[in-house]
Amino acid sequence: MALFDQEPAHDEDELIASSDAATRALSVASVENAFVERVYEKLAAVYDLAFGPALQAGREHAIRRMALQPGNSILEVGVGTGSNLSLYPTTSHVTGIDFSRPMLDKARDRMARGGLHNVRLLQMDAQDLRFADNSFDIVYAPYLISVVPDPVKVAREMRRVCKPGGRIVILNHFLSAGPIVSRVERMISPLTIHVGFRSDLDLPAFLAQAELKPESIEKVNIPRIWSLVTCVEDKL
Ligand SMILES: C[S@@+](CC[C@H](N)C(=O)[O-])C[C@H]1O[C@@H](n2cnc3c(N)ncnc32)[C@H](O)[C@@H]1O
Repeated sequence: MALFDQEPAHDEDELIASSDAATRALSVASVENAFVERVYEKLAAVYDLAFGPALQAGREHAIRRMALQPGNSILEVGVGTGSNLSLYPTTSHVTGIDFSRPMLDKARDRMARGGLHNVRLLQMDAQDLRFADNSFDIVYAPYLISVVPDPVKVAREMRRVCKPGGRIVILNHFLSAGPIVSRVERMISPLTIHVGFRSDLDLPAFLAQAELKPESIEKVNIPRIWSLVTCVEDKL
């Protein structure tokens, strides 16, 4: 069975024509968990080299923006090889989840090397979080949301486990607003998924469908094509 649709999941003209953010498709490409797991099984060995320093400025900016207080509980969804773990203050309680065993193994090595006693790592699907409602002060997804089959389901899970008044923080690349770049991003999205992400995730449609109301959206990294989206969870 083909795990990745070689054919676009949605006709591109149909996507562009549909102006209703609440209903339009989020991407031309569709993926399944099994495909993504295989991609990250292969990527684990080279992930830090390929996506470590290149995306670190955005990670650092996100943690500064969180303005963490001693005792804050943070859930990092899609913790990967643990690139963020040493950035959290040691006074915070960090839970990192990922469904990829090879990526988690790398994160465990990093935890041991850094003596990070404020972190626990669990194997879990972001689309089905095994935590009680209202468990965390901050629920953070760095470079995850364009990887998962159903970004809206992940956002709903993130909202469910976030305490009222807590923050949902999403760091990701989204479809450009410019007509030429966005056309290219849509064209290449079925290919970029082979290196771990979709290049054409539609931010306004994602926010509308996940019922997220950002308090800020900042451009980060160089080039500034990644967005840091911060929302306060209002439980409405
Ligand atoms: C691009 S990496 C980001 C890793 C890390 N957050 C960082 O800043 O580098 C995406 C991670 O999400 C994980 N992932 C993808 N789909 C997932 C899912 N459904 N549930 C849990 N983790 C998932 C992958 O295994 C991978 O480790």
